[in-house]
Amino acid sequence: MRRPLADAWYCVGRATDFAGNALRAVELDGEQMVVGRDAAGALFALRDRCPHRGMALSKGRFDGAALTCPFHGWRFGTDGRCRDVPTLSSADAADFSRIAVQRFPVLESAGFAWVNPHLGPRGGAEPPALPALDFEPAGCLVVALEVEASFDLTTLSLVDPGHVAFVHDSWWFRPSKELREKVKRFAPTPHGFTMTSHATTKSSPVYRLLGGAPEVEIEFRLPGVRLERIRAGARRVANYTFATPMSHDRTLLTNALYWSMPALNLLKPLARPLMRQFLTQDQQVLQHAQKGLDRKPTMVLFGQSDLPSQWYFRLKREALQAAREGRPFRNPLQPQELRWRS
Ligand code: FES
Ligand SMILES: [Fe+2]
Repeated sequence: MRRPLADAWYCVGRATDFAGNALRAVELDGEQMVVGRDAAGALFALRDRCPHRGMALSKGRFDGAALTCPFHGWRFGTDGRCRDVPTLSSADAADFSRIAVQRFPVLESAGFAWVNPHLGPRGGAEPPALPALDFEPAGCLVVALEVEASFDLTTLSLVDPGHVAFVHDSWWFRPSKELREKVKRFAPTPHGFTMTSHATTKSSPVYRLLGGAPEVEIEFRLPGVRLERIRAGARRVANYTFATPMSHDRTLLTNALYWSMPALNLLKPLARPLMRQFLTQDQQVLQHAQKGLDRKPTMVLFGQSDLPSQWYFRLKREALQAAREGRPFRNPLQPQELRWRS
């Protein structure tokens, strides 16, 4: 239960990070991978380990079709199969076609690359619930930050309304320091839950920038995806956050902000440091909390503002059980109204 869900899709970088014949080393759930894009535009993800002597294939060359290991020149197709062992002579009767590197499924969605690190048999035939965008963005701003904390602790911050007033107290996000009672409606979704609300004009300046009283929908989805969709008339903004387990104690937080209004492109240089500041606030507090959890790994989940955190663990437990029993995931949550002060 403490481990991230194995048979799940995690964000490993922007789709545009994988271009040309570049190879990128990616760390996902303790696994070292090499990710690239072939000449036909298809992404691939392989274990970053040459079967010969363990060399990192990401340090080698890629010609759009095959990777060449920099140690002894073994070549591998993007399907992981060994294509050539150049040091073999005609006296060698060895068949290298049986040698292969582990391959991982990889997909592209919402401008990001997603990898499923699961080894062994896959559960149901359920399609991956990858975050998509339902409008054509005029621009996009992405900030990613590594957090020295477990995947669970980091992911909880995506569904935790209680920390916002204390951690994210920058003037531009939360001008009022007062705690106010909030009432929010929650409903289960296929892989998580949503919260819908109408932001008041007294909300953060970020919402006010959109004009009017925008409608905000926040969805959490397993394994660690938070999708905030903001709608004000025809104007659309999406703020997506993805948690990616790198190792048992390091998690990557990726935040992507998309907008439909071309005029907002001008604000991009201003928005980037603010987004970084916001993520750094989470990073700092999570890293300190992780040290406390390392000393004693228990949490007291208390009150309605901690219910979404409890739901996270319930969803995860159900996903693990469904995988064990080889059946489809059944969302155990019910619609509910929550009240808290924030
Ligand atoms: S380690 Fe890769 S070819 Fe020898
Ligand atoms: Fe946060």
